[in-house]
Amino acid sequence: MSQSKLITMDEFTIQETRKFPQATGDLSAILRDLGLAGKVINNQVRRAGLVDILGKHGATNVQGEEQMKLDIFANDTLINILQNCTECAGIGSEENDDHISYQDTFSANSKYVVLFDPLDGSSNIDVNAPIGTIFAIYRRVSELGKPCTEADFLQAGKNLMAAGYIIYGSSTMMVYATRLGVNGFTLEPSIGEFCLSHPNMKCAENGKIYSLNQGNSIKYSDGMQAYLNYCMEHNKEEGRPLTQRYIGSMVADMHRTLIKGGIFMYPADKSNPNGKLRLQYECNPMAFIVEAAGGKATNGHENILDIVPTELHQRVPIYIGSKNMVNKVMEYVKEHATTPM
Ligand code: AHG
Ligand code: MN
Ligand code: MN
Repeated sequence: MSQSKLITMDEFTIQETRKFPQATGDLSAILRDLGLAGKVINNQVRRAGLVDILGKHGATNVQGEEQMKLDIFANDTLINILQNCTECAGIGSEENDDHISYQDTFSANSKYVVLFDPLDGSSNIDVNAPIGTIFAIYRRVSELGKPCTEADFLQAGKNLMAAGYIIYGSSTMMVYATRLGVNGFTLEPSIGEFCLSHPNMKCAENGKIYSLNQGNSIKYSDGMQAYLNYCMEHNKEEGRPLTQRYIGSMVADMHRTLIKGGIFMYPADKSNPNGKLRLQYECNPMAFIVEAAGGKATNGHENILDIVPTELHQRVPIYIGSKNMVNKVMEYVKEHATTPM
């Protein structure tokens, strides 16, 4: 493609904003700054394999600076860039026990808050597998002119204004969703810009791939175990078993699910009644993206986006992806609903 045909993410976001004459552009500014943070984090991620040469976490590098763990580097990058962005009043992060309300005057007058998982799938860094950053943007509910409050971070996912992720994979991509739809942008390294590469992404109604940590299956409910048997058998819809794929990085597993169709699950099990993944910065943003792309996300009882959070770091079971596949697993779970969990 000639470079003149490239549409950068910022150009695209501005064009989308123009569809709404009343829009102020504040949300576009946050998306742009999240893209900037993504590029800064990407730069460090791309050097991760040199960590033994440049120095491990806790070690001192040649300049006498202490090396930072990548998830802490990613977290600090997002916190600082979003504070400089005059549209963000505060953040909630996997890496911080409590939310942070930015205390400067600009931030107190900002309309939005952002929740994020700065580096998702970080155990995959050592094996050079894809990792990512996940984000969720809400309009604040607390009074403008004052620092934001906890209530801003405990909103149900259905209030989301936008959500997305950056995947540091074989290429680096930023995917974000608004109520208008889902679009994907690939980083073009020669110009340092995310460029529209996956317009109007849709999650197919059906898929052939199921994705979960099947090693936990002995601890799953009877319904889940029956569903896994269905996946592994020659079932009548498919005429052959489904394919199992699990990277262990939610961003990477969800990116595949969005592009190829399929289902991703992190169910409850006997030792973890709420599953593992966090509602506010893992499940809600992914549920918002998947629903905007025509898919579905549930915790087994209600849509993920309807859950009203009570704590910043609460966990929730999740079944997410192609609508018909999510409905199918729910049939099995409900049929065996007498089993606790
Ligand atoms: P994080 O690296 O942010 O802590 O998240 C890891 C998560 C998620 O990315 C992945 O889907 C899941 O943990 C994998 O868990 P298991 O190793 O239990 O399968
Ligand atoms: Mn994570
Ligand atoms: Mn993380």
